[in-house]
Amino acid sequence: MRSFLLSIALLTTPLIAEDYQPKDYSYLLGMKGFDDALLKLHFQLYQGYVKQVNLLSDALKKFPNSTPLDTYEFGALKRRFGWEFDGMRLHELYFDNLGGKGSLPNPKSSFMESVTTQFGSFGQWKQDFVATALMRGIGWVILYREKQTDRLFNAWIDQHDVGHLATLKPIIVLDVWEHAYLTQYGLNRADYVEAFMNNINWAVVDQRLKQL
Ligand SMILES: [Fe+2]
Repeated sequence: MRSFLLSIALLTTPLIAEDYQPKDYSYLLGMKGFDDALLKLHFQLYQGYVKQVNLLSDALKKFPNSTPLDTYEFGALKRRFGWEFDGMRLHELYFDNLGGKGSLPNPKSSFMESVTTQFGSFGQWKQDFVATALMRGIGWVILYREKQTDRLFNAWIDQHDVGHLATLKPIIVLDVWEHAYLTQYGLNRADYVEAFMNNINWAVVDQRLKQL
């Protein structure tokens, strides 16, 4: 009877979400075109987003559901959450799609099939992706795929949490905030973008396309 009551209690107790843990990307160190110092700085910055997501989650717990929530503090925390959470996830998508070691996409891959159908060739897709990455401003470039129509979009994201194409899946994510390249490349963003293109992990790209 006691174990039965314990089981019921466990089933009815709300699950407590554990803190997010930063992923370990140290395997990327030594990547051609990326100084270790630059990568380590970027890892630290990413870890900061994970920490802030956890801090914000804790801070929001002090607003119980039953109280009026129209306070400035509540609103500020809620608004900030999207920035920190997207900052965490976008960095994970970015680091996860690196580490390809100069490989080219498999000509028979889902990715090549999709870009050839929509852009005409891999080169034409790349030209548009790179042109988007060289726009003035800081932000992200994301190759999205829309499942319903099988369309691809090279999109510019101004802030971590602003400009995303709702319901579409990120396939390739490129960080073009200045911290991603400035200490190594200065203002030469084009060379950084080329280094990124040379290190895309095409197996991850294909996996993302298949997981739709
Ligand atoms: Fe970044």
